[in-house]
Amino acid sequence: MISIEGLSFSYPDGTKAIDHISLAIAEGSSVGIVGANGAGKSTLVNHLNGYYLPREGSISIHGISVIRKNLDRIHKMVGLLFQNPDDQLFTARLYDDVSFGPENLGLNQDDITILVGDALRELDLWELRDKPPAHLSQGQKRFASFATVLVMKPDVIVMDEPTADLDPKNRRKLINLVNRLATTKITVSHDLDFIWDTCQRVCIMNKGRIIADGQTREILGNRELLEANSLELPLRLQG
Ligand SMILES: Nc1ncnc2c1ncn2[C@@H]1O[C@H](COP(=O)(O)OP(=O)(O)OP(=O)(O)O)[C@@H](O)[C@H]1O
Ligand SMILES: [Mg+2]
Repeated sequence: MISIEGLSFSYPDGTKAIDHISLAIAEGSSVGIVGANGAGKSTLVNHLNGYYLPREGSISIHGISVIRKNLDRIHKMVGLLFQNPDDQLFTARLYDDVSFGPENLGLNQDDITILVGDALRELDLWELRDKPPAHLSQGQKRFASFATVLVMKPDVIVMDEPTADLDPKNRRKLINLVNRLATTKITVSHDLDFIWDTCQRVCIMNKGRIIADGQTREILGNRELLEANSLELPLRLQG
């Protein structure tokens, strides 16, 4: 489904953020990506919908290469939830942010109205639909970003720190929602309990490389491995 081969990436200032990563992700699976601050997680996942285009190495989604000329198809397939919701929300009204993607697909207005209404209600944002996204609380912005991704019904959902800013009840709501989605899911998070609850497989990144890859329970239950990578056991395993 998703194939990353020999991907490397350096920022213009010379920082090597991704160092020769290869990874294959099966359709319908849910994969967590964890690692210390600065490990390269966001840089990696921001490649998956072509926000950054591969210069060294390659990525394909369903056999379609992530290259400039395929970006329309890639954007339709892959929904990316940015780490910072302010990068996702850009109109003057929440409703318009959520309807922007479906409008771009050229769907008819009745279908758009239903899709947008469903996405806003699913995330308890319907009452806030006329607000400027800039005036939403942080957690509301996080869910608003999620709505802009969900409304597109992508085949692949990529989430970068989706639980940041969420209160315990909304975090639980997100776990249930994510577990109900049958799509392929890739989640970056420092919330290892969230990863435990939503992912079958976990990759640990360190200095731009994937240095461990396996079943969630094996990886997140391995204290030595986690501590060697500046991580800690999920809270539920700390006793
Ligand atoms: N725009 C940029 N220009 C230069 N260097 C950058 C840029 N964005 C990120 N970096 C660097 O690239 C490396 C990887 O950053 P990245 O944001 O991918 O890390 P991360 O694993 O997502 O960290 P965090 O857990 O803090 O979100 C870091 O060393 C960072 O300083
Ligand atoms: Mg990040």
